[in-house]
Amino acid sequence: MKQIGTSSALKNQLEMIRGKSTGLVPTMGALHAGHILLVEKSVGDNDITIVSIFVNPTQFNDKRDLEKYPRTLNSDLEILSEMLGKDDMVFTPAADDIYNNEKIPGIDLGHLDKIMEGEHRPGHFMGVVRIVNILFELCLPQRAYFGRKDFQQLAVIKSLVKQSGIKTNIIECPIVREANGLAMSSRNSRLLPEMREKAGIIYRTLEKYREQALTVDITALKNNIITEINAQKGFKVEYFEIVDDIELKPLVSVTDINNESHYTGCIAVYAGEVRLIDNIKFSF
Ligand code: PAJ
Repeated sequence: MKQIGTSSALKNQLEMIRGKSTGLVPTMGALHAGHILLVEKSVGDNDITIVSIFVNPTQFNDKRDLEKYPRTLNSDLEILSEMLGKDDMVFTPAADDIYNNEKIPGIDLGHLDKIMEGEHRPGHFMGVVRIVNILFELCLPQRAYFGRKDFQQLAVIKSLVKQSGIKTNIIECPIVREANGLAMSSRNSRLLPEMREKAGIIYRTLEKYREQALTVDITALKNNIITEINAQKGFKVEYFEIVDDIELKPLVSVTDINNESHYTGCIAVYAGEVRLIDNIKFSF
């Protein structure tokens, strides 16, 4: 694999592989099994895989979160060197290189940016859109790989692609979890061991209430989930919503369920100081 540190060096490399299919896996590093699944999928689907590692400052609405974000470049490169072939690339740009001469895409995220993560992390999705658009313009990949762990991000990226006419196929990958059910996340390394073990409650509670979804009313179901997680010492739910997969419109009552739509329950929880997100498919 080739480690490439600047966008001009990346452009040169891309010139040399013209005609080959390319898969892009955008990451912020601190790689774990969730990222690895995306990389494996891309390696299987494409001639060339490009993994980007860049802790993107424009998507952090909280400066402390940006400062505390884990950075483990050496071990990330070691992991990738075992998975990638000799022509695959790891792109590790610096902020002033990547944000040089940027054309911010003139797209409107509308409702997608107003609820859940959009509401609680103002500016976050515009930062994601900016970096993903820059990476797409640089790499022009046939396919790009994103995890369902960041369910709302996936909807935002699909909207970016649709509105900008980008020709990249967005490949959606399932959530990889730790043994106790906690969704893998780079931020999990910031949890104290006891909190990390207890955090399995988030997924277990979502699973439990998913089974009861048709028999309980939606408001009661939401309250039950929030109360049960908040009962764990150190845990505080920020939001829980059940939304449709396309427009992310919150479901208020079971009578509003549309058989054509798919629904996902999305949650954000503070475990101590660490903010965790997770989601689960609801089948009504
Ligand atoms: P990051 O959090 O590093 O995640 C990179 C990709 O890995 C995202 O598509 C994310 O959904 C996926 N991922 C993370 N945890 C996962 C898990 N447990 N199971 C499956 N997939 C998982 O998401 C970002 O970075 C950034 O916002 C980025 C898209 C790179 C833009 O900066």
